[in-house]
Amino acid sequence: MRLLLIIILCMIAELTSAQDTYKGLKDYYNDYFPIGVAVSPQALKGPEATLIEKEFASMTPENAMKMGPIHPEENRYYWDDADAIVAFAQQHNIKLRGHALCWHEQTPSWIFTDAKGDTVSKEVLLRRLKDHITTVVSRYKGKIYAWDVVNEAVADDPSKLLRNSPWYKICGEDFISKAFEYAHAADPDAKLFYNDYNTERPEKRERVYFLLKQLKKSNVPIDGVGLQAHWSIFEPNEQELRTALDKFSSLGLQVQITELDISIYPWEKFQRERRQGETDVFTSELETKQMEQYKMVFSIFREYKQVITGVTFWNISDKHTWLDYYPVKGRKNYPLLFDQNLKRKKAYGEVVKF
Ligand code: GLA
Repeated sequence: MRLLLIIILCMIAELTSAQDTYKGLKDYYNDYFPIGVAVSPQALKGPEATLIEKEFASMTPENAMKMGPIHPEENRYYWDDADAIVAFAQQHNIKLRGHALCWHEQTPSWIFTDAKGDTVSKEVLLRRLKDHITTVVSRYKGKIYAWDVVNEAVADDPSKLLRNSPWYKICGEDFISKAFEYAHAADPDAKLFYNDYNTERPEKRERVYFLLKQLKKSNVPIDGVGLQAHWSIFEPNEQELRTALDKFSSLGLQVQITELDISIYPWEKFQRERRQGETDVFTSELETKQMEQYKMVFSIFREYKQVITGVTFWNISDKHTWLDYYPVKGRKNYPLLFDQNLKRKKAYGEVVKF
């Protein structure tokens, strides 16, 4: 009798663990928010595609919808890569975030100048921005549920509010509200986001908050703020993360974590050469620190499920991450939940343990 009971218990245990490996991040977080991932068109086949389907409920094109890649010449769009990502999302019933309609990086060379190479006027630049946003947003209307409309407009320099980008130099602050208006007109149902980094650092947080407050006050059609969350094992701490979520959501905005990764190195802004003797080994000590950081941030995300409407990782696995090239080229980083063989890391276990 006792033996039979033991056998039955073993069978149940086996079944439950088989079920657990069957479950992906998206299933564990089904009652919270969609868990997403940034993808390139190359990831839409083979083992990475299998992993995306199993683990994720949302995708963001890593580069394919940025202005430079998708709109290389004034009268020419390049749709193939973006279309392929949209088709994959539709086919597998995966939600899609659009990224990014107006940014100072990865812009096409023609956008700020005329045929003679002179800087265009504000009027011309806003018309170009409108054409761009209208064309791209309309093409994917109903297929993209949320757009990063303006990316990283706040300055790195703490004494300034806005970055001195060509957008700002030519248009002043108007380009921000205009970008939201154009996007809203093209797809009134899409949720529109302002997206930025280091939004948990108190100093930058306050300036981003100030900008968002102004936009809300002026009735700009903005729905949310994207916290990029290019974090590390050193930051943010629990209090910084809570305060950022409290402040931004107090404006009546939804919050999405849009580009999550947890670097094993301290954050650096400027690109530099790898220093002599600078190692890039993922030691078990670093693995533990990263696991603790992932555990902490996800427990807070769950607590804030009323305001957080999406959490997206920036890249699929440690096999390929933009942090392998930036800020130190050739220094390997290990910032994600899947290792270089696409296997779940220890941190994964903590993220789904609740
Ligand atoms: C920023 C952008 C992203 C991406 C990362 C680096 O965070 O928003 O699109 O370019 O930098 O990969």
